[in-house]
Amino acid sequence: MKFAKRVAGTQNAGLNDLYTAPDPQQISFAGGYPDPAMFPQKALQVAMGEAMTNRAAFQYADSWGFRPLRDQLAAMMAADGIKTSGEHLIITQGAQQGIDLTARLMLNPGDGLVVEAPTYLGALAAFNQYEPTYYEAPMQADGMDLVALKKILMTHQVKMIYTVPDFQNPTGAVMSLEKRRALVRLANQFDVLILEDGPYRFLRYEGTTLPPVKVFDTEGRVVFLGSMSKILSPSLRLGWLIADPEIMAGIEALKGAADVESSALIQRAVSQYLSRVDFPAHLAQLRKTYRQKRDVMLDALHCHLPADFTITDPQGGFFLWLQGPKGLDMTALQREVLLPAHVSVVAGRNLSPAHSMVSGARLTFAAPAIGDIEPGVQRLAAALSQGARQVQAR
Ligand SMILES: Cc1ncc(COP(=O)(O)O)c(C=O)c1O
Repeated sequence: MKFAKRVAGTQNAGLNDLYTAPDPQQISFAGGYPDPAMFPQKALQVAMGEAMTNRAAFQYADSWGFRPLRDQLAAMMAADGIKTSGEHLIITQGAQQGIDLTARLMLNPGDGLVVEAPTYLGALAAFNQYEPTYYEAPMQADGMDLVALKKILMTHQVKMIYTVPDFQNPTGAVMSLEKRRALVRLANQFDVLILEDGPYRFLRYEGTTLPPVKVFDTEGRVVFLGSMSKILSPSLRLGWLIADPEIMAGIEALKGAADVESSALIQRAVSQYLSRVDFPAHLAQLRKTYRQKRDVMLDALHCHLPADFTITDPQGGFFLWLQGPKGLDMTALQREVLLPAHVSVVAGRNLSPAHSMVSGARLTFAAPAIGDIEPGVQRLAAALSQGARQVQAR
């Protein structure tokens, strides 16, 4: 069959790397899964049962989403700094659909798109379908390198910038307050849309929460994406997109064309859930659990990691970045050494469009059982030492 060109770009994005072959002995630091012990199964079961008592839950509704839920999420975001209302918020199938719809709205083949390097693999998989011209802005400890970004904007036509300002996937970095303001100023100056992806915003384990980039939006050019995946359950496929009216009109039309609407049943269940439980207390519990896991992982890495590897120090989210010595091919190392040692990471190769991050890797501390983290890190560290020796010997 002669498939459309967009398929190849998406097939080659490397999403499958996240799901390594089943190995019962493996300790995986790869997939960005929430800790399954943290799903509020009982409360969701009750909420689902309650939603099912209403016949409307089984019917078509509309592509905007269930209005009471939109209002609840808008209130949550207003408390987080984004002054919005349910009117300016649309329900999506996870943040992933928000990425896809925004890219579909903005990008013709060849259009300029800036991404952080490294960035979220799933976003690249979505963007590849629209065949953009990519530009990479390197990640720094305080977020995207804005000097590099400005250079790109001055020398190329760019339509959109994709950023994960809070506990970035995959580095765990947080964009500084000053950079948030400056990013919007640059977007205004060069007439660019900012796609702000914020699924980890509510998972801060220490330090002060910074306002979303959307808060500094003066010209209606920032699209904010939220998600229940990391803070409630990814199988709900429930996310939201906040944008100003002009953008929203396009997004709403594209959402209808893509999948008509998100499940009315799930939306009503989540709405029920939010009105029945103390959601801030649930979030506090998540933070406590993930903070402990992060601490165990950081302690173990500081203790065992070979000297020529460095790690980031995330204040929240699910991930940290492991940087190996120059010349190391983390993909090969994973295949030849890590997987046989029953430990896995996400190698950096596919985490930037130009494959510029080959000697690094993403590690998650969220999904593994807390008791597996230290032994997993020991395996990882031993395998990395062995691998680095092999690389030097070549
Ligand atoms: C930065 C980022 N954006 C979006 C997603 C997709 O999330 P969702 O399940 O809400 O579609 C993820 C999931 O890993 C992510 O890390």
